[in-house]
Amino acid sequence: MLHPIITQARDAFESVFEGQADVTLQAPGRVNLIGEHTDYNEGFVFPAAIDRWAIVAARSRVDSRVRIYSAMHEEVAEFRTDDVLEAQGSWADYPKGVVREFQKLGHSLCGFDAAIVGNVPMGAGLSSSAAVEMAVGKGMVMLNRIEISGPDLALLGQRAENHFVGVNCGIMDQFISANGRAGHALFLDCRGLSFELVPLFGDDVQIVICNSGVTRGLTDSAYNDRRSACENGVSLLTRAMGEDIKALRDVSMEILDVYGGALSETVLKRCRHVITENERTQRAVALLKDGDLSGFGQLMVASHESLRDDYEVSGKELDLLVEIALNVPGVFGARMTGAGFGGCTVNIVERDAVPALTDAINEQYPRTTGLTPEIYVCSAVNGAELVE
Ligand code: GLA
Repeated sequence: MLHPIITQARDAFESVFEGQADVTLQAPGRVNLIGEHTDYNEGFVFPAAIDRWAIVAARSRVDSRVRIYSAMHEEVAEFRTDDVLEAQGSWADYPKGVVREFQKLGHSLCGFDAAIVGNVPMGAGLSSSAAVEMAVGKGMVMLNRIEISGPDLALLGQRAENHFVGVNCGIMDQFISANGRAGHALFLDCRGLSFELVPLFGDDVQIVICNSGVTRGLTDSAYNDRRSACENGVSLLTRAMGEDIKALRDVSMEILDVYGGALSETVLKRCRHVITENERTQRAVALLKDGDLSGFGQLMVASHESLRDDYEVSGKELDLLVEIALNVPGVFGARMTGAGFGGCTVNIVERDAVPALTDAINEQYPRTTGLTPEIYVCSAVNGAELVE
């Protein structure tokens, strides 16, 4: 049976543009299980694609005109595939940025009409924008019969976001949205982009995402600030050691212990998070492969503490969600996920314990924060693909 949002996207297409779409594409949002703020340090991440998607229903045109309807914004954006495209600071920058990147590769592109519908919550740290980029990207690939690999499509989406939208993100979100696999998380080495799909737990264990209801204010400047602290750490350590270090990926805790005196206290903390998080992520993947969910969960908690204390990107709401969850029997691990400063936590939970977790969050979280949490019990799904 078709998921209702597929039908919704096709219906939206028909009512806005008349006639039927030629192709429908779906690209998922993501949750990161562990490996946070490591991607732009050439480190390791371990996200899964979740069963929340951006859907694009599209039809090619004989001219170069592009009309894109966003159901989320109830608006049509128009441009041409042979225009010199410029960002306007609106939702349309995401699809436009993707078209721009295909232009830069030298493809001559047909025009198209498209409707975009989505159910990845926006501004919640679950990568709704990467999902839109990958669904539009996959649509362009189908309509123009372009050959491009999943990793290259992800890089194209990241370039659109970095250069066109103007958000300095790493590669994780687009990569998992393009390359995820049902029932698996993806262990990605962000240096060189080699990856391994690792089977997740069986049916008895679930991924539960709790949305704090705090949308990420000031994210971009705080995110960029963390990136600069890491770059600063790399250049100061290079100088102190007299050796060329490319990224924090190359630094161990032993090195940091010896040369950390060259860094300011804040930069030292930021570097410590990244270095320990890279270690935790590699260990966590090994534990998961051994079926050690308790060990995996403990590393998730250690990751949260490091993000809270050393990287300082959590917040009292996310901390509270983690604290509540860890008091519920049957919860293996809980941590903030994504960039932080609001957004969501991710919890690994025994299936039978999901109702107890939901009750505990719904009872305790609003009492302290006055906010209404949202809870999504998720499964891991495939990356961007054509819907038959
Ligand atoms: C955002 C970015 C990612 C990554 C995470 C933090 O989601 O888009 O590239 O840096 O934050 O792990």
